[in-house]
Amino acid sequence: MSRLLVTGGAGFIGSNFIHYWIHRHPEDRLVVLDSLTYAGNPANLEAAAEHPSFRFVQGDIRDQELVEELLRREALETIVHLAAESHVDRSISGPDLFIDVNINGTHSLLKAARRVWLEGDKNAFPKPRFHHVSTDEVYGSLGPGDAAFTESTPYRPNSPYAASKAASDHLVRAYQHTYGLPTTISNCSNNYGPYQFPEKLIPLCIVNLLSGKTLPIYGDGQNVRDWLHVEDHCRGLELILKDGRIGEIYNIGSRNEQTNLDLVRLLCRSMDNLFAKRSELGDRYPEAPPSRGQLCEESLEFVTDRLGHDRRYAIDSSRLEGELGFGSTITFDRGMESTLLWYLDNEPWWRAVMDESYREWMTDQYGKSGSPPAGA
Ligand SMILES: NC(=O)c1ccc[n+]([C@@H]2O[C@H](COP(=O)([O-])OP(=O)(O)OC[C@H]3O[C@@H](n4cnc5c(N)ncnc54)[C@H](O)[C@@H]3O)[C@@H](O)[C@H]2O)c1
Repeated sequence: MSRLLVTGGAGFIGSNFIHYWIHRHPEDRLVVLDSLTYAGNPANLEAAAEHPSFRFVQGDIRDQELVEELLRREALETIVHLAAESHVDRSISGPDLFIDVNINGTHSLLKAARRVWLEGDKNAFPKPRFHHVSTDEVYGSLGPGDAAFTESTPYRPNSPYAASKAASDHLVRAYQHTYGLPTTISNCSNNYGPYQFPEKLIPLCIVNLLSGKTLPIYGDGQNVRDWLHVEDHCRGLELILKDGRIGEIYNIGSRNEQTNLDLVRLLCRSMDNLFAKRSELGDRYPEAPPSRGQLCEESLEFVTDRLGHDRRYAIDSSRLEGELGFGSTITFDRGMESTLLWYLDNEPWWRAVMDESYREWMTDQYGKSGSPPAGA
């Protein structure tokens, strides 16, 4: 039996990870530490809360004392570190929080792990592991013909978000090298799936369409991302936690490069088809284009590009595939359809998370339309 601390477990990837882990390893102890920012939602963990070995703790990763106490009391030997400020647009308008949470927060966790696992009773923690979840954005931007990012691609972060994640990766590496803290790092491409906050590209487009709003596309819509279903990301994390080599970095991706425009068009077609097949959707979402006799694609609108918008990300996950047998299992078409269905069937969830403070922030950022451009 393993005992895990999952930081950021009430967020998008964190909550999917918790559901995945409980299903696959029901005997393991799982403690979530999450401060519940706008992006953290206890409703994401409702199903997990019934599980006897699950515990939720509301708290901040920057609270070193709290983390040390949790590690000792709960005898936690694995940390899966997901907590972060994660939205690029927010990092552009307010970088300070990103520096504080993503860099100082990670450092605080590393200090706690070092103190408890390496300087305390070592017999109580015979096989500790600190796994840091990071992003492909640390590698910067690729040109159209460039080879995909490998684990040895130099870091060239372009946004304050990416820079803060890059700095946290370096700290994790340094704690392994200097103090011998057993760490692994994964750098993953863009995720999609259920429970993703509707400020990110895919849920934003879904929610905008269902609410009869336009789909503002950044620039020419030709920015390319490698999209991975969140469940496949969790599978990659599981492989690394089980057999990943200490001190190693693993890229996680699915060789699924899509331009933002192609992705949004695919989503539009899926939405049109679903409304054609399920007549009750017209009554539930009267503002959606198909309910008004329009095609979803007619809602597309090109707007001024994001500052410093990276052009292309592509991930080479050969190391994870070759060493640990990783392969994504969910095709993009299937994953997009199931994600769309999830949002259609969980309207109370997305309406609740788009509360007043979220709407105020949106209006502040994007003016009266209160809707950000669709970019990732
Ligand atoms: N979403 C992606 O496509 C993607 C891709 C690659 C890597 N990542 C990384 O994966 C991790 C999770 O991403 P996500 O999309 O689920 O993010 P998210 O924004 O949905 O969730 C972040 C979670 O962290 C919590 N949190 C924030 N600050 C905290 C603090 N100080 N203390 C405790 N908890 C705090 C939030 O409440 C939230 O529950 C992040 O580290 C992100 O950089 C995300």
